[in-house]
Amino acid sequence: MNIIETKGLVKKFKDFTAVDGLDLEIQKGELFGFLGPNGAGKTTTIRMLTTLSSITSGSAKVAGFDVKTEPARVRERIGVVPQQFSLFEELTPVQNLWYIGKLNGMPDAEIKDRTNELLKIVTLYDKKDVKSGGFSGGMKQRLSVAAGLLHEPEILFMDEPTTGLDPQSRIALRELTNELNQNGITVVYTTHDMDEADKLCDRIAIMDHGIIIAEGTSEQLKHKVSKDQLIEVEVMDADDSLAKAVEKMPFVESVSRDGNLLLLNTSKTENAFFKLADFFKKQDREVREIRIREPSLEDVFIQLTKKDLRDESG
Ligand SMILES: Nc1ncnc2c1ncn2[C@@H]1O[C@H](COP(=O)(O)OP(=O)(O)OP(=O)(O)O)[C@@H](O)[C@H]1O
Ligand SMILES: [Mg+2]
Repeated sequence: MNIIETKGLVKKFKDFTAVDGLDLEIQKGELFGFLGPNGAGKTTTIRMLTTLSSITSGSAKVAGFDVKTEPARVRERIGVVPQQFSLFEELTPVQNLWYIGKLNGMPDAEIKDRTNELLKIVTLYDKKDVKSGGFSGGMKQRLSVAAGLLHEPEILFMDEPTTGLDPQSRIALRELTNELNQNGITVVYTTHDMDEADKLCDRIAIMDHGIIIAEGTSEQLKHKVSKDQLIEVEVMDADDSLAKAVEKMPFVESVSRDGNLLLLNTSKTENAFFKLADFFKKQDREVREIRIREPSLEDVFIQLTKKDLRDESG
């Protein structure tokens, strides 16, 4: 069953198109990831799906309700962990959750019960009466998660929850996300961290310039590039002219160089290692290592967009 479904979803800001016709199907129980660089349209998509931003054209259904015509019904069923911390810094976790519960019209006893339960889940129970302004980034994010879960939503939207956190806090937040998902909550998760998407998400949509350029499980996405073969060659005193020379070999499609490491995108060829070793020997270059590299999501992204996910200029 699709818990989220969009058809031709578009968001324009004046004449700029931030989201350009998204067709999406997310199943109940999935941990679904939007992966894309800055400005790809991840937050804009999340904001439309969570009724925070109007839809320019197309349609979206969330938890069975139309986002445009039944936004209140949608809001009852979703929780949101926004990209920016949006709770009151001068209030404690207990006070923050109390305020949100009241806003949502929850009965007092239920707010209290949920607050205790959730603060334990997000491991903030021992800080429940401390003002949240002084919390670390990781603690604030965990409090945001608790706030998003207060009214027991079916779907939790998390917008780059681990960005800016230290490695330990990232791991803790990922573990928490996984645990929530294991307990039945559908999670929609955005990130620009490819390893994170790879490790955490059941299915991933790679977004760039407002469109989904590829979608599938991490394995399916990697399979897209595995028709080619990535070979890494570590060679002493590598330079650009050597990279250019390698690129002229018939089975080599492209070469990128990072210091002494050459990354070759090649068509699958018999004896590629032997041919390369022979080539470098003739060039009088000392090869340290030749190895096949398993494709990563980064390779998928580079191949699909012809740019690096970290290169924000494109
Ligand atoms: N309110 C707005 N008015 C005008 N343009 C906007 C507005 N909000 C977003 N945009 C533009 O829409 C594009 C997509 O932005 P969005 O915030 O959705 O990207 P993102 O994928 O979430 O990026 P990031 O990783 O930086 O959070 C960007 O070019 C952004 O500048
Ligand atoms: Mg964003």
